[in-house]
Amino acid sequence: MTAYPSATFWINEVEVEMIALAVFSIFKAYSQQSMSKILKFAVLPGDYIGPEVMEVALDVLKAATEPAGIKLEYEVAPVGGAGIDAHGKALPDSTLKICEDADAILFGSVGGPKWEKLPPKEQPERAALLPLRKAFSLFANIRPGFLLKELTDASPLKTERIPEGIDIVCIRELTGGIYFGQPKTTETLENGSKRALDTMVYTTDEIERIAEVAAITAKGRGNKVCSVDKANVLETSVLWRQTVIDYFQKNHPEIELSHMYVDNAAMQLARDPNQFDVLFTENMFGDILSDEMAVICGSLGMMSSASLGTKQNTHGLPYGLYEPAGGTAPDIAGKGIANPCAQILSAAMMLEYSFGEPEIANKIRNAVKQAVQDGTRTGDIAFGMDSVGTKAMADAIVARL
Ligand code: NAD
Ligand code: IPM
Ligand code: MN
Repeated sequence: MTAYPSATFWINEVEVEMIALAVFSIFKAYSQQSMSKILKFAVLPGDYIGPEVMEVALDVLKAATEPAGIKLEYEVAPVGGAGIDAHGKALPDSTLKICEDADAILFGSVGGPKWEKLPPKEQPERAALLPLRKAFSLFANIRPGFLLKELTDASPLKTERIPEGIDIVCIRELTGGIYFGQPKTTETLENGSKRALDTMVYTTDEIERIAEVAAITAKGRGNKVCSVDKANVLETSVLWRQTVIDYFQKNHPEIELSHMYVDNAAMQLARDPNQFDVLFTENMFGDILSDEMAVICGSLGMMSSASLGTKQNTHGLPYGLYEPAGGTAPDIAGKGIANPCAQILSAAMMLEYSFGEPEIANKIRNAVKQAVQDGTRTGDIAFGMDSVGTKAMADAIVARL
């Protein structure tokens, strides 16, 4: 009799493959923590506050990686409105090429009033960010909603409802649904009125692969997933819910799975956010719910994100695009007051997921927490306290690395 009779191995072939891949990735991640490592990534600051927060995020990244002997090798390229201004195109070919040659993209944000008069299809958001997500099949968007206990004053929720802060995460499908479904058209009818059409479409394959990301995320946390849909109205949601039920039953029966309609989810988030652990949803619902999550967690200026896809980089780790969940904040741009934390924390996610440096990523996260706990706040999270500018916030973080 062998010590491990095969009967105890009830997992199927796909799971064996997935586990092997995960173990391989972890092994690779740690084996790559060497003194001569080079991190090659594209830096796409974008528009309005994009370059302001990117500049200081790079300072933090340098300060965090230098002591470990890690070298940053990045190329800065215009994207969005900056791409239009420099090359007549929101996603210039030269920028795309730099992204293709890199192991990850650190992205700021794009768009704003300066380019809003252009035809919609040429505007920065639709002509740069969405094509980039599609070009690299970045189907999994991870947005952590984290509010420190010390920052509960910055949340619009009453402190009694979130005495310990908030710790949830949104897994948003990013390359399907109504954002990309075809046809997508506007036509003029015979009577002169116009008719516009967007198409919401999902396949089981698309739903299953993002369900797997939600499951993996839940396993590293509270083992609980709430899948959000609108299955009382939408065909795509009926398919979404059934596919998720089947997928979890078959592959992750130990995870506590629940379902919620999106209107209720929006309400429940505002009522008691910590009832959730992993919120898991389709593209447009995730866009909306993640902004709500950001504000109950203090500010959009605190919310980072990682968009991962099917492609592996030269480190054998996921190629990813890392960006703040928020936008270009034209209302505060040029004043040096934007909160750089979302950009800095996005850089930390890049270190962890695309470069296998979870320890340095955590060092940055802890420095951000410490700076905020010590009372260093930009205006969006100050609420009555003294506030500092973008650079001073980043300097306070560097000082605590
Ligand atoms: P926004 O996220 O830019 O701003 C919403 C509010 O949050 C504003 O009051 C802004 O000042 C505040 N805010 C956002 N980030 C902040 C930060 N780092 N520090 C302090 N305050 C911050 O949303 P919007 O005003 O609807 O959009 C502005 C432009 O950004 C639009 O063109 C939009 O399409 C674009 N956008 C781009 C991205 C992206 O590139 N990923 C994401 C969202 C919006
Ligand atoms: C986000 C943004 C984008 C989206 C826009 C700018 C296209 O709002 O990343 O959340 O809707 O995905
Ligand atoms: Mn959004």
